[in-house]
Amino acid sequence: MTRYRFFTATTLDGFLADEHDSLDWLLSQPTGEESILPYDDFLAEVGAIVTGRSTYDWVVAHESDVEGAWIYTQPTFLFTHRAPDLERDGVTVVSGPPAGHRAALEEAADGKDVWIVGGGGLAAEFARAGMLDELFVSIAPVTLGAGKPLLGGSFDLELLEHGTNGALLEARYRVVGERV
Ligand SMILES: NC(=O)c1ccc[n+]([C@@H]2O[C@H](COP(=O)([O-])OP(=O)(O)OC[C@H]3O[C@@H](n4cnc5c(N)ncnc54)[C@H](OP(=O)(O)O)[C@@H]3O)[C@@H](O)[C@H]2O)c1
Repeated sequence: MTRYRFFTATTLDGFLADEHDSLDWLLSQPTGEESILPYDDFLAEVGAIVTGRSTYDWVVAHESDVEGAWIYTQPTFLFTHRAPDLERDGVTVVSGPPAGHRAALEEAADGKDVWIVGGGGLAAEFARAGMLDELFVSIAPVTLGAGKPLLGGSFDLELLEHGTNGALLEARYRVVGERV
């Protein structure tokens, strides 16, 4: 069965990026050899990818070797109200509530998992729709005081596993549901 998983890194005070979308606070952290969920193992379980517009733009600008190219091979669903011209091989532009895209996402994932790359508002939309099973966070030993929130809502989580990776504290949670 397809799982919906939000795999990300956060500051200790719950930000995915600073106010200018910078990840300097994360990229400067020393990582180790050990992890409770190594990125490559996680990625091997991913059949489809979900991203918000800011996250998409950041990845294309900072992680791509080819200008303007998306870096993941899995079918990707880009949530945005702007620029349907971003649609390209492997990237489908969508908008609106996640539930409206559930069938297409699960067909694309083909029995594997859906990775919600970010951001935190979109991940919360998935959680409210009952489409977020797991949150995996690498917590950096830094606070920013302001920035882009990890998860834009109020949810109960259950801690399943924890560990360390270099300077990062890792935690895997089951998403129980929205707090009422
Ligand atoms: N720490 C990490 O590992 C990590 C992981 C992921 C992301 N990040 C960073 O965190 C930041 C997140 O940025 P963000 O909070 O602005 O989030 P985001 O989800 O990446 O982008 C928000 C935008 O996504 C679009 N969107 C969201 N929900 C939508 C929906 N239901 N329908 C249509 N469009 C929708 C909207 O774009 P439009 O305005 O175009 O409609 C919205 O303005 C980025 O800088 C990213 O690089 C960090």
